Amino acid sequence: MGRKGLIVGAWKAYLDGAASAGVARAVREWRMRKGGASRYDIAVAPSFPYIVPVNGIIADTDILLCAQDVDPVPMGAYTGHVPPQVLRDAGCRLVIIGHSEMRRLRRDDDNIIRRKVGTALEAGLHVVLCVGETREQRDDDATRRVLEKQAGSALAGLGELAKDSLSIAYEPVWAISSQNPASPPAPRDVNAIHGDLRSIIGDALGDAADSARILYGGSVSADNVCDYMNEPNVDGVLVGSASTRPADFVGLLDAVEARWNPA
Ligand code: PGA
Repeated sequence: MGRKGLIVGAWKAYLDGAASAGVARAVREWRMRKGGASRYDIAVAPSFPYIVPVNGIIADTDILLCAQDVDPVPMGAYTGHVPPQVLRDAGCRLVIIGHSEMRRLRRDDDNIIRRKVGTALEAGLHVVLCVGETREQRDDDATRRVLEKQAGSALAGLGELAKDSLSIAYEPVWAISSQNPASPPAPRDVNAIHGDLRSIIGDALGDAADSARILYGGSVSADNVCDYMNEPNVDGVLVGSASTRPADFVGLLDAVEARWNPA
């Protein structure tokens, strides 16, 4: 972990309001118990309706609030849209853009993802850009080409705007827990792909890429999180399903804490 690490718990649409508050309280209590400075940031990403109540629970901690998506529009006559300024006002510091579920189910393409990334950065949000190949693309040996296209098109021309405001989450679609992966990728393979991604984002952003964190996402759990974060090119993790169960998420945070912030 070279850069300051980042652990994002993304609750997708798994949790209702009571359950979201329950996980938020568990993470808050955990953070209060640990105290002190941390070598990594922790963020939670509730569903839109629960952003404000979750913010109320974590507001007195350094846990960061993250949105799961954003619309590339200003405030105004955009029924059903959520502009970046609204997310900022509601307490969000980060936003996830380009998740494979948004690419697949909402048809987010490279063009709209590029616009989302640009408007979110302009509004002062830290962007967590998700990229990753499908099983078929992996089997076709197309991973590098897919990542070049996804990251290259999302970041082209952003330059300094992305400095200190960008994380890339490498999430092989086939490794996400809801896809029932036989097993997630080996940490060593993730490390090699993160190395490729580092050069891809360097080509797109120049020096501004140096500050970008590269996270791994896909079936991360308390049992494997340190194996991934031990790899030199892995700056953190994006956790879906394991972050929705208080005991599992706290267990994962404990595992990371024991490794990187020993008492
Ligand atoms: P998972 O989800 O941790 O449940 O595999 C990761 C993701 O989709 O971001």
